[in-house]
Amino acid sequence: MTDTTDILGREEIVRLVDRFYEKVVQDKTLGFIFTDIAKVDWETHLPKMYAFWQTVLFRDGGFRGDPIGKHARLVPLTRMGREQFDRWLELFEETVDELFSGENATHIKACAADMANVIHSKINAIPDARFDPSKLTPEQRAKYAAYREVKPQ
Ligand code: HEM
Repeated sequence: MTDTTDILGREEIVRLVDRFYEKVVQDKTLGFIFTDIAKVDWETHLPKMYAFWQTVLFRDGGFRGDPIGKHARLVPLTRMGREQFDRWLELFEETVDELFSGENATHIKACAADMANVIHSKINAIPDARFDPSKLTPEQRAKYAAYREVKPQ
């Protein structure tokens, strides 16, 4: 049995991120999204992801970016549904478990799962505040309800 340690700082994050994207690029569900669709420049993406996870875990990575916007841009170009996010998470969790164990290892997996949910729901169904049902007046509600009764010809 191999000894695994926890994620203690930058060094472990770099190992985790490098190994994770090694798997991602070879994955048949996700690989082409990075290589063919987004044509990711790894020299910028990897350091950005080190900073991202360092910020999430230790609040000192200095990450600045726009994760929702960056993923939203992929939606018209490829499938970014639950299947893709589940696969992403599966690979992420598998990589964490392969390399580390401990409190931070558990925590980073929980953060990834939470963020996958947020990104997935935001990019696939960004609700338009103007159409939030809770903001409709009774008159608008009645009007929109009537629309639903119109039968296609
Ligand atoms: C279906 C799953 C996912 C796919 C295919 C995907 C793909 C990508 C791609 C192609 C980029 C580069 C975009 C660009 O630079 O234009 C990117 C950036 C990024 N991804 Fe994902 N991603 C996925 C899930 C996630 C999840 C679950 C997280 C967080 C836990 C995440 C965190 C990030 C961050 C932080 C960036 C950098 C954003 C920025 O530059 O501001 N991704 N992703």
